[in-house]
Amino acid sequence: MASQLPAPPEAGLVNGLRFGTDTIRFLDGVQARYDDGISIPIPGRPPLVVLTGPDLVGEALDRPEDFQRVPAQDAAAMIAEQGLVQSEGELWSQQRSVVAPSFGGRQVTAYANTTGERIEERATRWAERGSHETDLHRQMTSLTVRVASEILLGTDIGKARADQFHEWMRIAGEEFEFGIDTVLPEWVPTSVSEEFREAATGIRELSEDLIQQRRETLSEGERPDSMDMLTMLIRAEDDPDVDYPANQIRDEVATFLIAGHETTALSLSYTLSLLSWHPEARRRVREEARDVLGDGPPTHDDLAGLTYTKRAYREALRLYPPAWAIFRQADGDVALGEYTVEDGSAVVMPLRSIHRDSRHFEAPETFDPDRWQRRDPNAVDAYRPFSSGPHACIGQGFALAGATLTIARIVGQFDVDVPETALEDLRLTPTLRPEGGVRATITPVE
Ligand code: HEM
Repeated sequence: MASQLPAPPEAGLVNGLRFGTDTIRFLDGVQARYDDGISIPIPGRPPLVVLTGPDLVGEALDRPEDFQRVPAQDAAAMIAEQGLVQSEGELWSQQRSVVAPSFGGRQVTAYANTTGERIEERATRWAERGSHETDLHRQMTSLTVRVASEILLGTDIGKARADQFHEWMRIAGEEFEFGIDTVLPEWVPTSVSEEFREAATGIRELSEDLIQQRRETLSEGERPDSMDMLTMLIRAEDDPDVDYPANQIRDEVATFLIAGHETTALSLSYTLSLLSWHPEARRRVREEARDVLGDGPPTHDDLAGLTYTKRAYREALRLYPPAWAIFRQADGDVALGEYTVEDGSAVVMPLRSIHRDSRHFEAPETFDPDRWQRRDPNAVDAYRPFSSGPHACIGQGFALAGATLTIARIVGQFDVDVPETALEDLRLTPTLRPEGGVRATITPVE
């Protein structure tokens, strides 16, 4: 017979408040104490469910009809309401099929090669400057947002707009930061800052500009075989079988501008930080990069030889998964494993805590890239930095290819030194963001 997930001993509101104010410590504590998960009653709203068991997480992610996405509301809806990261059901399924060809093998190669060219240019500038200080996270954002716009939307947004985007993401991060209002009863109104309104408007306007630009180049007959995502979306508009709600293309572009770069930029900042603190791992990445990469920009063909670099990146995604948790909402009283989850429950799957659970990983706090030589990351249930099930990350191939080349190219030529405290103050927005950036010293090495 189905049972309820256990409730923790303290009152629901106390736990709810700890979830809203000291989230990571709270989730780590729940992870350590419960094999499957807990259900916390919250006054004024449905229970808060935290799933700690990798098998239950996998099951929930496989069943989007029962465990639905939380619809974009308030601030989030000001940027995009119905992009692929927010939509469900038929709209989601239609949109995923429309854009899927833009993420196939040929496009992964194009993404990898463009990343290679852009990181080569950046590395050349860094070498000319000699040893210098920089905000590593800003650098990685600028790199990834420009590559994403070029490959997904057919237009490089350029340095100035990439810098502006970084600033908008900082403001959005503040707006979406987890806090006390996460667990306030639903009838308590929460406000949106003026600064955020401006950032959201900026992102929407930029999206509209890019769409307009692409429509013009397409109508002039440029690159008719183009597979970029924006071209696929614009073409689908002419297909009588595709039904677009108003603003659908703009919502997709705004969504992809964010989803297509932010997590990747964060993962690069984390990996380079971890390598800075683990000199032996850095030495091995450098040795491999120098063996494998030729004189010109790194390319997709180099990936096969960069096995240790890939392991280091995988390991950074374990310790610092940019998407630190996945959120869903139960639609009806639904069965999950041997349990029933109550209608409307907010379901949290804390990837970061699961990735650091000693039941699933030996020495879980240790940065050990070679653990991915002993284990196949795709066969480990407790390791899901890109999620799983129908909503699994569509850009995973892009991220793995682009990030591996970027790390190899940078570490092959530079010492990137990051203070040990750099990742101590991570803000919980939908991603795990370093407050105030990541200060780093970049020094060319012989
Ligand atoms: C290290 C880099 C990345 C990480 C860690 C990451 C992580 C994730 C995760 C955990 C999800 C599932 C979210 C959920 O189910 O609620 C997701 C979905 C998604 N990701 Fe990524 N992602 C990365 C890079 C990318 C890139 C490069 C793109 C696009 C070029 C992208 C586009 C998307 C989209 C569109 C979805 C929604 C898929 C759907 O529902 O059908 N991501 N990603």
